[in-house]
Amino acid sequence: MSIRTLDDLLAEGVSGRRVLVRADLNVPLDKQTGDITDDGRIRAVLPTLGALVEAGAKVVVCSHLGRPKGTPDPQFSLRPVAGRLGELLGAPVHFAEDTVGDSARSTVAGLTDGQVALLENLRFNAGETSKDEAERGAFADQLAAFGDAYVDDAFGAVHRKHASVYDVPARLPHVAGRLVLREVEVLSTLTSEPERPYVVVLGGSKVSDKLAVIEALLPTVDRLLIGGGMCFTFLKAQGLEVGTSLLEEDMVETCRNLLERSSGKIMLPVDVVVADAFAPDAAHDTVRVDGIPSHRLGLDIGPETVAGFAAALSQAKTIFWNGPMGVFEMAAFAAGTRGIAEAITEADAFSVVGGGDSAAAVRALGLDESSFNHISTGGGASLEYLEGKALPGIAALEN
Ligand code: 3PG
Ligand code: MG
Repeated sequence: MSIRTLDDLLAEGVSGRRVLVRADLNVPLDKQTGDITDDGRIRAVLPTLGALVEAGAKVVVCSHLGRPKGTPDPQFSLRPVAGRLGELLGAPVHFAEDTVGDSARSTVAGLTDGQVALLENLRFNAGETSKDEAERGAFADQLAAFGDAYVDDAFGAVHRKHASVYDVPARLPHVAGRLVLREVEVLSTLTSEPERPYVVVLGGSKVSDKLAVIEALLPTVDRLLIGGGMCFTFLKAQGLEVGTSLLEEDMVETCRNLLERSSGKIMLPVDVVVADAFAPDAAHDTVRVDGIPSHRLGLDIGPETVAGFAAALSQAKTIFWNGPMGVFEMAAFAAGTRGIAEAITEADAFSVVGGGDSAAAVRALGLDESSFNHISTGGGASLEYLEGKALPGIAALEN
């Protein structure tokens, strides 16, 4: 890879220099309290930030949070993230109340060597995500004015052609941070030389989100295990009735076609947990997939499916997992996701967990993160990497 790294930048010396770091601090927040419910993405960027602080840089961090519409929206403020980042770094983080305005300018100007500032949400500015090159460029000019060098450590956003990801590196000396490097290193072993059998587990709600990656993976993997909400469209494609389960009617034909072309590599659930409603206290039972009642919906894979998937995983030498197997946030429908996660940790395999939701599930279920070889911080980004797509944020670092 012809990409310069944080170590190259540190070797040049960064003491007293302003270093603009693009991080992905897009963490889940509790809808009621606004508290950070999973700080994994904040912790993931600490190695890069810590190294810059130690080297005496003036560190200016920027990130998006959620999907505000190009204008300030208090529910998406990064302020709580500044607090948590400060706790984890063990030093206060100076928070700018805007991204490139007066507050940002004075906050950056006030930094002394080894101090850290966090700018307000990048997406409070229309230029960040604009499709118009000139509008994005104008915003990138304002951001680039805050740095003498740029570090991309926002792996979760490298698939976005956004100002802070794509246009800023064209304006400043640029390097990849520790997290981006590690993510790319791990994912490249999956695409180039996975030790076999290579087993992929996919879940989550929509087939349409995963279609491209399924297409790309089918020739490469030895087995593809499908659970989560998206399994019902596949079951329908097999001619089964799925009650009121999540169903993408317009994908049924596509799924039928994938099943036909998969040479038996795709494994689907044989039993599921069905409920009367999408609610934590809904009445529920386990049924065979050919016996889903017409008025009930499937919210998790069943125990026999977990056993079958676990048996396939126990043979694997390489595992990639993206997407929960059921509604793990509700205790009654968490057993499938937990069972698969445990089977992955028990396998004697190189295991990679991809994505926001599956990574959050690992932590929410209280599983030991260190029993996986790698937990990616990027959901969409890791899938697009595995699809073989060019990632704008990585391409920008290569130039
Ligand atoms: C994510 O959570 O997937 C990343 O932070 C990217 O966010 P986005 O999908 O809103 O661009
Ligand atoms: Mg996303």
